[in-house]
Amino acid sequence: MNRNDCLGTARETLMDEIRRLKKEKGAVVLAHYYTEGDVQELADIIGDSLALARKAAELGPEISTVVMCGVHFMGETVKVLCPGKTVLMPDLAAGCSLADSCPADDFKAFIEAHPGHTVISYVNTSLEVKALSDVLVTSGNARKVVDSFPADEKIIFGPDRNLGAYINSVTGRSMVLWDGACHVHERFSAEGIKALKDAHPDAPVLVHPECKRPVVLLGDKVGSTAALLDFARNSEACEFIVATESGILHEMRKACPDKSFIPAPPSAGEGGEGAPACGCNDCTYMKLNTLKALRDCLRDSAPEITVDPVQAEGALRSINRMLALS
Ligand code: 13P
Ligand code: SF4
Repeated sequence: MNRNDCLGTARETLMDEIRRLKKEKGAVVLAHYYTEGDVQELADIIGDSLALARKAAELGPEISTVVMCGVHFMGETVKVLCPGKTVLMPDLAAGCSLADSCPADDFKAFIEAHPGHTVISYVNTSLEVKALSDVLVTSGNARKVVDSFPADEKIIFGPDRNLGAYINSVTGRSMVLWDGACHVHERFSAEGIKALKDAHPDAPVLVHPECKRPVVLLGDKVGSTAALLDFARNSEACEFIVATESGILHEMRKACPDKSFIPAPPSAGEGGEGAPACGCNDCTYMKLNTLKALRDCLRDSAPEITVDPVQAEGALRSINRMLALS
């Protein structure tokens, strides 16, 4: 057996084991579109942050164990929405550079420096920041939630400066923005996308709003991962340039086998502190959800997400307000 055959067999064995353990434990596996393709294939539910939060809120009492293949704040959101269930994650080290860019103490001081402002935060935040917020948004409902407030409402938006600037631009508001960002989405290169567009002039550019303004301005469609996927499904175009994390390409190619999806290039050196030196457009945190980690997590029923009850209560209020508005 050559090395590739050997790796293929190991992968199949792991996948079979995961299917068996899922059944044995009666566990429901949720996976974000940014996880690796094999993990998405094994999941019971895949989606963007909004869909995963909605689905978690709908899980019935017959489900006692949920495995969240995503990043830590997503596991916390599931636990807050399903306090009576055991919520597991393949790797608790799967953090988020955007959530990390907004420490709760600093955010609290920022809020205090802007009295009279409504606080709207992206779900990519810690539980403490969620509890400090009046309402949350995802990239899938940010515009709708912001639009639900009067035009003259004074608003603080955190932590993503790019999503906040995009929402300001499409709503004509002047929300005060927290200066945070995602290291993956900030790495896409506008120059590289323009060069790709020259080579593929008919390919619409699909952009996640966490990208920087020059990249957003090149977007034929700007939206959450689910919105970009829907656009690709419904478009007559044959090829697309995709400026978001590479995991989404798996579902795009599966949903549209006759279309081609070209990953937008990152620029070397962009992305700031914490950006991996690989020059790829992968979220290293999402990729910690390996098949092996998922197998071990199901087998050992660990690691488990736990939340502080007081923070969870505050976060639940702002999560529920978002779900009611979206
Ligand atoms: P969505 O799932 O809202 O598209 O967000 C992308 C993201 O960066 C998740 O961390
Ligand atoms: Fe966080 Fe960016 Fe990874 Fe999304 S892609 S989980 S925002 S680091």
